Amino acid sequence: MSTHINAPEGAIAQTVLLPGDPLRAKFIAENFLKDAKCYNEVRGMYGFTGTYNGKRISVQGTGMGQPSLSIYVQELFQFYGVQNAVRIGTCGSISEDVKLRDIILANGACTDSSLQSQRFGLMHYSPVPSFKLLNAAYNKANELGLKTVVAPCVSSDRFYDANENWKLWKKYGAAGIEMEAAELYTLAAEFKRNALAILTVSDHIITGEATTAEERQTTFKDMMKLALETMTSL
Ligand code: HPA
Repeated sequence: MSTHINAPEGAIAQTVLLPGDPLRAKFIAENFLKDAKCYNEVRGMYGFTGTYNGKRISVQGTGMGQPSLSIYVQELFQFYGVQNAVRIGTCGSISEDVKLRDIILANGACTDSSLQSQRFGLMHYSPVPSFKLLNAAYNKANELGLKTVVAPCVSSDRFYDANENWKLWKKYGAAGIEMEAAELYTLAAEFKRNALAILTVSDHIITGEATTAEERQTTFKDMMKLALETMTSL
């Protein structure tokens, strides 16, 4: 048991998929996992453990934004011994080369979050994923015939980007903007665990295009399959 996750010891697998939306965690458990059991309902932030390809895997909602993800991921690492944490989420594209429904494997996560300055002060840490997970996901996507883009993302604290800071991040090569990956990567470094963010492009910041609900469902299923097949093949 921990403050925000009231799971008994052993109820959470060593590998955890992390959607922002807890109802997505429920959907994944009900539609992709076998024998899924709910281990957390605190604050409606559902967590489930089941099996996929015969291997134990958990799925835990994190909420939106780095402070929320930070709470759940810290507890998973510190109290439940989780070794592999994979964010599965959406992002906005800030690159002409990255289209709606593309899947980004984030090989770095820039951020404007004060979580970084609280830790590092005037020094600047580079949040990066586990190469092992990144490489495995990239190879698995090719095997499954799914197109992926390996590129840095931006984890912003501000969804409504009134100052259009995305333009500066774009200039320096970031491809997608979301709100969680940098803290996930930084916590994984702190606890010496493996992390990766897999992001499907749900909207395009430059063109203003957005996916329909049906498209989001299909691309979400592709991303889920990629995450589950990757993590159960290691
Ligand atoms: N900004 C931040 N997070 C997001 C976006 C966005 O445009 N799209 C999906 N998640």
